[in-house]
Amino acid sequence: MGIAFDDVLMFLFSISAAQSQTTLESLQCHFTWDLDYSKPQLYRLRDRLEDVCTDRGNRWLGHFYNLQGFIQFKLEKYEDAKRLFNKAAEVFSELRHADEGPWLVVNYGNLAWLHHHLGEDEESQAYLSKVDALMKKYPPPSQSELHPEIHAEKAWTLIYMTEEFNAAVDHFEKAARMQPDMVDWNSSYVIHLVKAQEHNTGEVEADLLEKIRAAKERDPENLYLAVLYLEQRAKKGEKVQEEVREFARNNLGSLSCSYSCMRLLLEVYKNHLSIDEAIDLAEEALKMHPDRRHLKKNAALCYRWKMLFFRDSPTRPGMKDRAISLHEELLSLYPDSQLLKKIDLATVYAKSGYKAEAEQIYQELLQDELDPADKQLLYNTYARYLYYDQHDRDGSIRYHMKAAEIPVRSCFGKGSMRVLNKIKDRGQHRMCPEIEEFLKNLQVLE
Ligand SMILES: *[C@@H]1O[C@H](CO)[C@@H](O)[C@H](O)[C@H]1NC(C)=O
Repeated sequence: MGIAFDDVLMFLFSISAAQSQTTLESLQCHFTWDLDYSKPQLYRLRDRLEDVCTDRGNRWLGHFYNLQGFIQFKLEKYEDAKRLFNKAAEVFSELRHADEGPWLVVNYGNLAWLHHHLGEDEESQAYLSKVDALMKKYPPPSQSELHPEIHAEKAWTLIYMTEEFNAAVDHFEKAARMQPDMVDWNSSYVIHLVKAQEHNTGEVEADLLEKIRAAKERDPENLYLAVLYLEQRAKKGEKVQEEVREFARNNLGSLSCSYSCMRLLLEVYKNHLSIDEAIDLAEEALKMHPDRRHLKKNAALCYRWKMLFFRDSPTRPGMKDRAISLHEELLSLYPDSQLLKKIDLATVYAKSGYKAEAEQIYQELLQDELDPADKQLLYNTYARYLYYDQHDRDGSIRYHMKAAEIPVRSCFGKGSMRVLNKIKDRGQHRMCPEIEEFLKNLQVLE
């Protein structure tokens, strides 16, 4: 007996269903964006993400859950990852007032990878087919272009996960150009253009202030943009102090929901008003929401700023105790970022005159098993501590060398290299020949 016609049809159908045009590798999603991190880095990123304001007002909430899910996946918390990816899809449909659209391409891609890793190939395949269907229904503007939604999500993710400001700015700009009615994309483009220019050259181009003003006008609810505008005007020498105070008074409630807004505002206070006013503001925000750990982190930071950079300003009564107790609290509030929090506590101890306590923290950290990036960070900060707090110049140089020779590219490694080069160029330290030799060998290694 021959094969029934229906069977042939079923067979052909199942082939075409199984063979999506999209493959896992060709997906646009977190799994294909080269986001490779060590466990400690992932824990720290997870910690940072937990301080993001998750009010419904946060227009990036869908991207936020996608990234959180990806980080949980990397930390092998697969059930959490699945829950967060599903949450992302749910939030997207709330924010977009629609059940589907190209903003789900990344989300489905993540789910396809997740199921693939769990050995659930059918589910994985189903998500690949869903991506196919989305691409058909909502084709990208051109064959070679991504959807603006994907540009925006990639930009947002790069900002969190990398120091690739320039790439992120490009993606934000493309997204904003392709879909001018998405106001947040334009705002984010402007915000990160400022960051990128400051990061690259230490200053911003003259016409950027006007861009910020225009963006702020279009997006009046964006508090970060508002603070940034005040900051940039202050940097240009405008007298904005009273305006800044008034802005803080009127918006403290909403500002204190967001770690990054509050952080930027405190920087404006520190740089353009006074460090004590910054501390007062941080304490006031903390009094309003004593349970928000990021407000404690910000308050602790203000005390650290005062101890590090405003040594001549009058001390505040009870300041040392307050600074130490805040930093101690942070140790338990951020269980996954212990290295940084311990270093901060050591700094506060050292600046408060408790040298033995500071040294003990460093000695313990130096015994810990750390990955290369963390080692580099630790050696660099220990070198600076030896120089400034122990006046041990030779020891400091040795630790800068230990930091510099770790083949990890980070601001800490670069910082140590900078110090060593400076000492070498000045040519006065008796370890100069040794430093020169060291730097020469390092270059041979590269
Ligand atoms: C952002 O919006 C402004 C108008 O406020 C517009 O001039 C500019 O071209 C937009 N930027 C992008 C990248 O689309």
